[in-house]
Order: sequence, then structure tokens, then C-alpha cells
Amino acid sequence: MEKAISDIEEEIKAIEKEAQELLASAKSEEEVEKIRVSFLGKKGKLTQMIKEIPNFPPQQRPFIGRVLNELKDKLSEAIETRLSFLRSISRKGEMIDVTLPGIRPQFGRKHPLTQVIDEIKNIFIGLGFEVVEGPEIETEYHNFIALNIPPEHPVRDEHDSFYITDDILLRTETSAVQIRVMEARKPPIRIIAPGRVFRRDQVDATHSHTFHQVEGLMVDKGITFSDLKGVLTLFCERMFGEDVKMRFRPDYFPFTEPSADASISCIMCGGKGCRVCSYTGWLEILGCGMVHPQVLRNVGYDPSEWQGFAFGMGAERIAMLKYRIDDIRLFLENDLRFLKQF
Ligand code: DAH
Repeated sequence: MEKAISDIEEEIKAIEKEAQELLASAKSEEEVEKIRVSFLGKKGKLTQMIKEIPNFPPQQRPFIGRVLNELKDKLSEAIETRLSFLRSISRKGEMIDVTLPGIRPQFGRKHPLTQVIDEIKNIFIGLGFEVVEGPEIETEYHNFIALNIPPEHPVRDEHDSFYITDDILLRTETSAVQIRVMEARKPPIRIIAPGRVFRRDQVDATHSHTFHQVEGLMVDKGITFSDLKGVLTLFCERMFGEDVKMRFRPDYFPFTEPSADASISCIMCGGKGCRVCSYTGWLEILGCGMVHPQVLRNVGYDPSEWQGFAFGMGAERIAMLKYRIDDIRLFLENDLRFLKQF
């Protein structure tokens, strides 16, 4: 049976369309292989048509042969293209859609305590103080003896400190840095020493085995208590705002004489009295005093020539007041839900 040329052209177009559509949706090399067999295999549609060429009138055969061969080449090429595409995505394991939005990198930030310590440092640097650091593992001499804390003193109890040997321990206060600086230098001295300290405290909302202090020391000729008061008042105004008031009350520390504790007017209630200040209107923020003459003698200074003041504040306490944080444990827990708020 002879076929008309127009029929064969229609058929060729239909086969090409069908094959292209099937290839475009083929998801695996196996699927592509099935498509190849169904068109170009021994019993494939195109192969069948090529076999039918002798049924056409002789003058049409060259034309039909050429068209079918062209289609065969086209399909072979389309099959190869699809195969190499499928191989490339299976190598990468995924299809890359360049139009998808990217993943935003997470920006880190400073821990709230580091932010507060940086702020404290900057205020004192502005007042002409230098920032120094001392070791966290200290000798009994620097942590206690030189600071005028004798062996019988209760703070030296094993229950209060982490001893490594009989005369080496994790420092319980940054005051030890005062001694190290004075031993190494001659006055005038104006330093602050921020750092980690350790105590065997029962952990609760306001106590931690590890916390931070910022120590301050100024030694020069003719330093008086009013210098101490002036420096700390400026510090508090810069840290907590111009309106804040300061109060000094007598206290006791072995390494200062006289000693005082400094409080600020409550930043929650402005001094009227509230739960945070236990209805006193005041918040204690640091200990301070004039450097004890014995401490000056311990480092080889003559107390009749040099005088000084010192202070020590808890960084967590300042941060808790400033950011209204009610549990000291939050600083050490590394909970991003907490840390991301600052
Ligand atoms: N070292 C004291 C403490 O840990 C704080 C302190 C008080 C430091 C008075 C000082 C000071 O330098 O003069 O409780």
C-alpha cells in the first residue's frame, strides 16, 4: 500500500513532538532508555517507518529517507542531551534553582556581659585609666596575704574558694591584680582590671561559682577620699544616666581603710522604693576605700609618700541592673533566646 507524502510528514511531526514531550518529563536514565527503545529500537516507531520506505514510489524514497534520517539524528541528540542533564543533577544531588532566595548568614554579637564590661572600660579609659589583666589562677600571696587577709580570715575557708594546692587557687577577686600591678610599677598608677573570678558559692538567682569583677586602683601623691568619690560619681552618671544619685556608707574590707560600699539611687523607681531595691530606694553596686597602708608597704611603697583608692564592682550585677535581668545563671547558659536580646 502506497502512502502519500503529506501523511508521512504529519506522522513525522507527531512522532517528534511526542518524543520531545516524553523526554522533557523523563526523570531517570532508565526512563530515557525506554523512550529510546520505543522510537529508535528494533521495533521502535521510527525504525518501523524506515522499514516502510520501500513501499513508497521510487521517486519519493530519497526524500522520505532523508527526512526520517534527520528525525533519527534529532531524536538521538535530544536523548543524549536529556541523559547528560539527568547525570549532571544526580552528580550534584540536587537541582540548583538560582531564583531561590539565599540563606541569610547569622550575625554573631557580643555577649551582654562583654558589652557591659566594654562600656565600663570605655568610661574609665575616658577618665585616664589603663586596662590591665591578671591571672585567673593566683597564688595565696597575691589573692590574700598581700591584700591584708591573714590565714585565719573566713574568706579563705576551703568552702569559699577553689584551691588547686595549699597555696594556689582560682582567684576569688580581681583585687589580686592591684598587687601584681603595684609590684611591677612605680606610682602614679591608674588602672582598671576586669576579669573572671571564682567562688564556691551555692548557685542561685544571684550567686554563681564564676562571675566577673572590674577592679580599679589609683595611686599617686595626695589622693583623698574625694578623688574616689569624684571618679565613682562620674562613672555612675555615665553608666546609669545623669539623674542617678550616689551614696557611700561605711563598710569593711581588709585591704582598704576607711572602706565604703557605694550605692546608686534605684534605677527602677528613682529612689521611691520598689521590689528591686527592697523598698530602700538604693542599689549597692560596689565596694571601695582608701588603699590600706599595710597593702602599700607589702608592695614596697611608702604610705607617707603615696596614697591611693581602690574599688571593685561585680560586672553581672551592673549588667543585671542595666538590662533588668533577674537571674545571674542566664549569663552562663548560652541560651540564644536570651543572648539575642542584647
Ligand atoms: N574584692 C572585693 C570583693 O570581691 C571588692 C572590693 C572592695 C574591691 C573594696 C576593692 C575595694 O578594690 O577597695 O568583694
